[in-house]
Amino acid sequence: MQDRRVIHSVTLLIAFLLAIPLLALVQQPEAEVNSPADGAGEERVRTLCASCHSLERAVPGGRSRKEWERTVQDMVSRGARILSADAEIIINYLAEQYPVGAAPLQEMRLLVWVDHQGNVEPLAAPPRSYMRPRLSPDGTQVAVEVLLDKRDIWIFDIPTGELRRLTYEGTNRSVLWSPDGRRVLFGSDRHQSPEGGRSFRDDHEAYWMPVDGSGKAERLTHAPLNHGPQRWTPDGKTLSFYEIHPETGRDIWMLPFEGDRKPWLFLKTPALEGGIAFSADGRWLAHTSDETGQREIVVRAFPQAEPAHQVSKGGGIEVLWPPKSKDLFYRNGNKRMAVEISTTPSLTVGTPRVLFEGDFVPSSGSRANWDATPDGKRFLMLKKVK
Ligand code: HEC
Repeated sequence: MQDRRVIHSVTLLIAFLLAIPLLALVQQPEAEVNSPADGAGEERVRTLCASCHSLERAVPGGRSRKEWERTVQDMVSRGARILSADAEIIINYLAEQYPVGAAPLQEMRLLVWVDHQGNVEPLAAPPRSYMRPRLSPDGTQVAVEVLLDKRDIWIFDIPTGELRRLTYEGTNRSVLWSPDGRRVLFGSDRHQSPEGGRSFRDDHEAYWMPVDGSGKAERLTHAPLNHGPQRWTPDGKTLSFYEIHPETGRDIWMLPFEGDRKPWLFLKTPALEGGIAFSADGRWLAHTSDETGQREIVVRAFPQAEPAHQVSKGGGIEVLWPPKSKDLFYRNGNKRMAVEISTTPSLTVGTPRVLFEGDFVPSSGSRANWDATPDGKRFLMLKKVK
């Protein structure tokens, strides 16, 4: 099976490589007549390029025609079944619409409420390229990343239906509310000089700023390597944040907001430790780990990181652990799963059950691309606009 797929891809790749010079000679004039306005290129990109990853991943910004040719060839070698005629249309479309310097392609999504049965009810916010929405502690506002020319933090006010942009400087991602709901935290590369070819991936730190826009962003982490906010301990006194280490990947650190405010390391192993959530009593911490070779949700004692208890079976990512819910939630493929967990007198982990299945926008990493009300009865999710 595997072999046949490889042969198939290789055949397509060869056919494609052979076809390029021919197409360039024979079909170039026609391709120019077929302007992107006829929608053929866009249609193909939207269907073919969004089948293995998101559209935003497929078009992360502008590239030269040569680079787009190379990208499409690369995708064919990775298993994309693209006929050479389609490849030409796709390359023409990408080269014309996304030349060097162009902003990334935005995949339009809606913010939606989803209940345990999987019933969907859109919020009144307009379609945007949303990512990783977070409900405010009082449940009236949503802080969310929006991709326009770059990623920024925006605030949607549920009662008034107002959507406003909060950040302007640099790239800003991975938003989190402060426990009092008066500030939001995020990762940002704003300390880099704009002339320095700034890149979020190369250098970002955790910041916070007032949610009403009344004050400047203040930097919270100061160390080499990349850092961003994760979650607050339930007492609101300690912020957990990630560090991306060249050898150990994502590790979990704690920043106390009391006393000496000295960051301390909670967990660093060669495995991934990402996308965390605390139990309501603050004695346990759930996170994604790939220690078994597959990403699974595990739970560990806090603040002393003892060996992990595995929660998910057959894969788990994007954990939520709402404070007034008996269940912990996570995603497995298209399924949203629930597991009953009690922490007193000792940790008891139930059997995972499927809540509902549906085509909601997944996270590109382990950080949850959904949120829940504190009672865990409703979820805030993202649905792609067709
Ligand atoms: C058969 C699955 C598949 C299809 C279809 C596919 N890709 Fe990919 N693509 C991958 C994989 C695998 C990666 C590497 C892992 C990742 O980045 O998620 C990737 C990564 C990428 C990247 C990041 C790497 C880079 O070159 O910067 C871009 C851009 C990209 N794809 C563009 C496209 C475009 C454009 C299309 C449509 C022509 C497409 N992909 C279709 C599988 C696919």
